[in-house]
Amino acid sequence: MDIQFDAAATSGFVPEETKRTLLDYLSHPANPSRGSYPASLKASRLVYQARKTVADFFGVPRPDHVIFTSGITESLNAVLKGLVKKGDRVVCSVFEHNSVLRVLHAIGAEMVVWNGHTDELDRLLTEDVSLMVCSHVSNVTGGILDIRAAGALCRKNGILFVVDTAQSAGILPVSMEDMDVLCFTGHKGLHGLQGIGGFCMKDQPLFPSPKQGGTGTHSMELEQPQNWPEIYEAGTLNVPGIISLMTGIQYLKSHPPVDQSTLRQRLIDGLSDIEGIRFLQDPQTKHIGIVSLVVDGVSGSWLSDQLAVRFGIQTRYGAQCAPLVHRMYGVEASLRLSFGHDVTKQQVDYAAASIRQLIEEKRR
Ligand SMILES: Cc1ncc(COP(=O)(O)O)c(C=O)c1O
Repeated sequence: MDIQFDAAATSGFVPEETKRTLLDYLSHPANPSRGSYPASLKASRLVYQARKTVADFFGVPRPDHVIFTSGITESLNAVLKGLVKKGDRVVCSVFEHNSVLRVLHAIGAEMVVWNGHTDELDRLLTEDVSLMVCSHVSNVTGGILDIRAAGALCRKNGILFVVDTAQSAGILPVSMEDMDVLCFTGHKGLHGLQGIGGFCMKDQPLFPSPKQGGTGTHSMELEQPQNWPEIYEAGTLNVPGIISLMTGIQYLKSHPPVDQSTLRQRLIDGLSDIEGIRFLQDPQTKHIGIVSLVVDGVSGSWLSDQLAVRFGIQTRYGAQCAPLVHRMYGVEASLRLSFGHDVTKQQVDYAAASIRQLIEEKRR
């Protein structure tokens, strides 16, 4: 079996309880909130339990303030297109994924780029800024941004604060308290299936319905219902995905994530004497288990292929959909190793030895 060093792309792990619950549901799938027969009622109950599980997990005051989408890309599209207008000044970080950058670009927002250092923020969060959006954790460096401090500064300055938790949810504590809109995806640290995610808000809906359609409620009215969650959800929900999100989060409660920073450092220490190797990271920052690197004269794409074919190690090479941070480090792509939830010391040492062997072979 392949060794997972691409968990920042997708978890690669489905808990047994998820498989059991899904098999049971799939023996009689039904639409939630549409019928009064047992299978439909059961689907409604599962969706409600999942909303409650997500709400409890992130500290969202009400389950119906958890909105399901197909993933964080859809969440960020809905939220940013709902809150930002052409010409608005928006602060985002240099670590943003294209699911933020391309959306802000398409809207025509004026982007003010934060370098991730908390002491820089005060200067950037000026009166004319309407919103700040940032990743909690960089999907390239694994660096953790201080979203608690950013949230407090945004609150003080009356600026809406949207957080992309794609890389942190399930790995670090994330609290709705620190932000106005929390966007999440199910298939990474939360160990759900691909194609499920969402966004959450505390109080009032902050922007209008991004889509319209059937909800199974108020069906004779042409207006989209304005109550939670129907204001933001239309059409048949991804019930299997929603179930997997619930059981994925339940799994995390009994198997809390381990701190991967020591193993991350072990990987870096195991490689750092290689001539011409460079890690994309800020030594002042704390990191989760993601390491991106470049090696002079050795193609990262070749390394990634060889690691997969010869050593069974799954990695990713490319710009990781995060152009600004790559530009900041003066490169257009990197080789990324992102640790699976059950990463071991042996796996880290094997990955380091395999990378070293490949580089030596290439340079011979
Ligand atoms: C920081 C960050 N934001 C957003 C996304 C997009 O996630 P999804 O493809 O689940 O919509 C990713 C995916 O890698 C990510 O790392």
